[in-house]
This record gives sequence, C-alpha cells and structure tokens, in this order.
Amino acid sequence: MPSVRALVVRESSDQPTLAIEELDNSDFVQRPLRVRVGYSTLNYKDGMVMKGIGRLVRSYPHVPGVDLVGEVVSDTSGTFTPGDWIIATGFRIGELYWGGYSEEAWLDPSWALKLPTTIPPRRAMGIGTAGLSAMLAIMGLETMNVLPGSEDPLLVTGAAGGVGSIATALAHKLGYLVAASTGRATEAEYLKHLGASFIVARSDLDTGPERPLESERWLGCIDSVGGQTLARVLAQTKSAGAIAAVGLAGGANFTSSVMPFLLRGVSIVGIDSVNAPLSARETAWQRIGELLDAELLDSMITEIGLDDLPTYADRILHGEVRGRIVVRLNPSL
Ligand SMILES: NC(=O)c1ccc[n+]([C@@H]2O[C@H](COP(=O)([O-])OP(=O)(O)OC[C@H]3O[C@@H](n4cnc5c(N)ncnc54)[C@H](OP(=O)(O)O)[C@@H]3O)[C@@H](O)[C@H]2O)c1
Repeated sequence: MPSVRALVVRESSDQPTLAIEELDNSDFVQRPLRVRVGYSTLNYKDGMVMKGIGRLVRSYPHVPGVDLVGEVVSDTSGTFTPGDWIIATGFRIGELYWGGYSEEAWLDPSWALKLPTTIPPRRAMGIGTAGLSAMLAIMGLETMNVLPGSEDPLLVTGAAGGVGSIATALAHKLGYLVAASTGRATEAEYLKHLGASFIVARSDLDTGPERPLESERWLGCIDSVGGQTLARVLAQTKSAGAIAAVGLAGGANFTSSVMPFLLRGVSIVGIDSVNAPLSARETAWQRIGELLDAELLDSMITEIGLDDLPTYADRILHGEVRGRIVVRLNPSL
C-alpha cells in the first residue's frame, strides 16, 4: 500500500516526542479489520497520552487517538464488509493499541460497531467518547431514578468541555433542568445555547464541602471534574439523588464524609466508557442519534488536522478547549 500519515509518539528521556510520520503496512500490528480513517477526535485522555501523563502507554512508538470512524478496507473475520462505515471508541484503542491519529487503522472487529446511518461520520466524531460517556452517564442516573421533570436542577460540571457540552445538550433535550458549572464565565452564552438554564461558577464548587451535609441543591450531577468538586457536590445533592462520576479534570482524589450516603441515600454511579459492553454502546449511540440536534452538535465542533494536535494536546490539558475537537484524516472519504 502507499504510505499513510500518522501522528507518532516516541519515548524520550523527558516528555515523549510527537511527529507526523509516513507508515506502511509492516509498521502496523495487522489485526483483522483494516479501516481507512475518516475522522478521529481529541479527548482529555488523548492529551494525556500525547504528553506522557498517567503511564497510559506501555510501549513506543505509539499512535494515539481513542476514537475513530472509518470505511472498511477489508475484514478477514467476516464481521464487516468492505465499504461499511464503522465507529470504534475505547477498548484501550489509542492507549494499549494504535489508534485513530492515522490515515489507516487495523482493529479487532469486536472493538467496532457499524456506524448508525442516522449519524454522518464527522458528526459521529463530534460525539465520540465524550458524547458516549455523557449518554452513559444519563443512563446511569436513570437507573438510580434520577429522572427529568423535576424542578430541582441536574448539575453538569466542566460544562464547556467535551463531556460537559454534550451532557448539557442531551440532558436539556430529555427535560432535565440543567445547571452548568464552568470556570470560564465567557462560555455562559454558549452553555445557555446548548440548554443550560443557569450557570454556576467553578469556584463555588472546587473548594470542597464546608460541612459533611450542606443545603440540598442538586437532583443529581454529571461530573467531569472529580477532586474536591465531587466532594462538594456530594454534600449538596438532594435526598435519593445520584452523581455520575465521569472524569478527573480537576483531580483524581477527594476527601468526603459518608454522611450523604447514610443520611440522604445519595449514590455515586461510576462511568466507564472504555469497557462498556457493546449492547450499552448500541443503546447509547441510538439514543444520541435520536436526541442530539445536528446543528447544535455542529456548533460544538472545531475541526483540526494531524499537524494541529501537539498544540491542542496542551490546550485540552489546560482546560482551554470548548466543546469537541474533531481531527480530519481522509477528507476525501
Ligand atoms: N469515565 C469515562 O469513561 C470517561 C470518558 C471520557 C472522558 N472522561 C474524563 O472526563 C473528563 C472530561 O473529559 P473531556 O474530554 O470532556 O475533557 P475537556 O474537554 O478538557 O473538558 C474538561 C472540562 O473540565 C473543566 N476543567 C478543566 N480543568 C479543571 C480544573 N482544574 N478544575 C475544575 N474544572 C476543570 C473545564 O470546563 P470549564 O471550563 O467549563 O470549567 C474543561 O473544559 C476527563 O477527566 C476525562 O478523562 C472519562
């Protein structure tokens, strides 16, 4: 095959190096499903991989990109047919295995789903792992009976980020009253456009709780931030409420008390989009396709090329990215 362009991370004594390289077949682990990648995305985890944070990558050289959408070139397992469009997210693609920042990818077919016909490829990556996680978070809250129609607000933290933007839009569409927490006051209008009814300053939440139980403010929460924000939200969640713990943009550790669990019956639901079973993914993608307004999704997307990724890796880790970053690979597809 002619060579394909990819963003390759190589180990170095300090921080890993990033460069666009030309690869050929022999560079890849040749798994059964070969795909021409149309688009990938930038998630917080991709920033960590590109910057060598969190020991997510076990062997170098490495091609990041936890999400990809592409056209099947061949599939020796017979699961997919050449010409099919597939979507692959999680399953440690872009961490343990080479991912979407390449014009071609070789995948295990069990990592892929046929792309729903209702979702065009670019928009599918506008959704990506962030949108899938937002939908899984809502599904987690539903299992805890945290349902739309209440006058109490559902809080979304890190709201102007990828998970937060899509969570805000989906929750509003479902009929929740959405409170969006952001550290960027300049994004208030953007968040209201997505469906937030009111804005909460990040600084109201990131200090940790003042008491084990504070005034009850939230029906529930979709939390991308973690750390002491999660601890404070826990102390402010209403009786029988629940928090979907999705992320750690504000820190991995938190100090709390058991009082919200014992005296208010509050629950924390863990969200793991990487290992979510295919059945849950299919349901989530189906629901996203039905719920998410296409124009609203387009308003969240910034499109970049492979060459822009090193700069954007820094930006996402510094909380400077709004909405979703889609990475263009083969625009001819
Ligand atoms: N569990 C899963 O399966 C799963 C899946 C996807 C993502 N995640 C995690 O979810 C988190 C969000 O991912 P993402 O792709 O949406 O990232 P993102 O686009 O960077 O969004 C994160 C948002 O968090 C806020 N934030 C950033 N730094 C902060 C800080 N120091 N303190 C408080 N808030 C801060 C910012 O929002 P504002 O400017 O609006 O405050 C930022 O936009 C990440 O931790 C990611 O690893 C987990």
